[in-house]
Amino acid sequence: MLESDSIFGISLKDALNLTTALTIVLITYNTVRNQKFLRDTPKPKNGIDELIGNTQMVLIKSLSKYTGRNIYAKLELENPAGSAKDRVALNIIKTAEKEGLLVRGEPGWVFEGTSGSTGISIAMICNSLGYNAHISLPDDTANEKLALLESLGATVNKVKPASIVDPNQYVNAAKKACDELNAKHLKDKTIPRGIFADQFENESNWRVHYETTGPEIYHQLRGNIQGFIAGCGTGGTISGVSKYLKSRFRTRKCHVVLADPQGSGFYNRINFGVMYDRVEKEGTRRRHQVDTIVEGIGLNRITKNFQEGEKLIDESIRVTDEQAIKMAKFLSVNDGLFIGSSTAINAVAAIELAQSLKPNSNIVIIACDSGSRHLSKFWKEARKVDSNITIDDIIS
Ligand SMILES: Cc1ncc(COP(=O)(O)O)c(C=O)c1O
Repeated sequence: MLESDSIFGISLKDALNLTTALTIVLITYNTVRNQKFLRDTPKPKNGIDELIGNTQMVLIKSLSKYTGRNIYAKLELENPAGSAKDRVALNIIKTAEKEGLLVRGEPGWVFEGTSGSTGISIAMICNSLGYNAHISLPDDTANEKLALLESLGATVNKVKPASIVDPNQYVNAAKKACDELNAKHLKDKTIPRGIFADQFENESNWRVHYETTGPEIYHQLRGNIQGFIAGCGTGGTISGVSKYLKSRFRTRKCHVVLADPQGSGFYNRINFGVMYDRVEKEGTRRRHQVDTIVEGIGLNRITKNFQEGEKLIDESIRVTDEQAIKMAKFLSVNDGLFIGSSTAINAVAAIELAQSLKPNSNIVIIACDSGSRHLSKFWKEARKVDSNITIDDIIS
């Protein structure tokens, strides 16, 4: 071979083979990379209902470093209407459609009594599916939730916070309004009918968490979960998720904790078998329903959705409003996590649970909604907290 047939001492033939091999490797690498990119990039959806669920999970670095356990937040606030309630609202509506109580393309009403989140989810989903929403809620609900409902065009019925035995309590008010519409519909079929979503008693609630939220959490952590924490409003989230997790962990233990705000009866119910909070004592209660600044969780009655999972809850941890307020500020300043009041309650409970689990255990908390839902009430207090607040200041 002539000297000119070689490059840097490699024969032209070998150099050509090498170039071909390198080109093939490069093309294969790019093809695999593009395929992965395509696989990982979500396709456009057909409507906001299709955006519900499959929320992400994030490690809360500050709390994990402090406790030596991995504390993850399941970001339910990513749902299109901003909370875990999107799953419930959609499932209730779909179930009503299957039962023929609502018909796609025909006018229909969805009535609900809610402290806010479920109403917002119902209103948004109704708009996307062609129904109307009628929402009854306590008149001291945070202003931004009211404004959101009104902006979404829902009919809003504000009632005084009251006990469930009061006919004007928000859940009773919603049922009454629905019954009145359906009575009119019976007399005049041109008037559309409605359904009462009844999130507290409706089994579509816990079932959707059993079918979606629970499996998502399990798969996101490849089944390696030692602790799960949620607050309890209707009980749908904690019942559905713990039912799923416990069905997967027949031999291994996943400790389920109900994080309870002050003034709620679940703490005593889970730990001591009695549904009672000392603020129920005559003359000591400041607010009629549950005596806390926290919204969405805490109750003083047993609902079907709570009962469904009650036996699976291992423990309840009590968190004060003051701790929740400080935790919200801490997570915002240290992790960039701007969360609502019920998430803050769960995060405080996670610190306590972490102490009873082995180092490096995985704990999942529900991050139900964002702080922006609570600017005028909970965050009005949280923003006053010193930015240098520490975890020791919160739990002491
Ligand atoms: C902000 C927030 N967090 C937590 C919950 C509790 O979820 P669940 O009703 O599934 O117990 C609710 C319920 O409305 C809520 O609005």
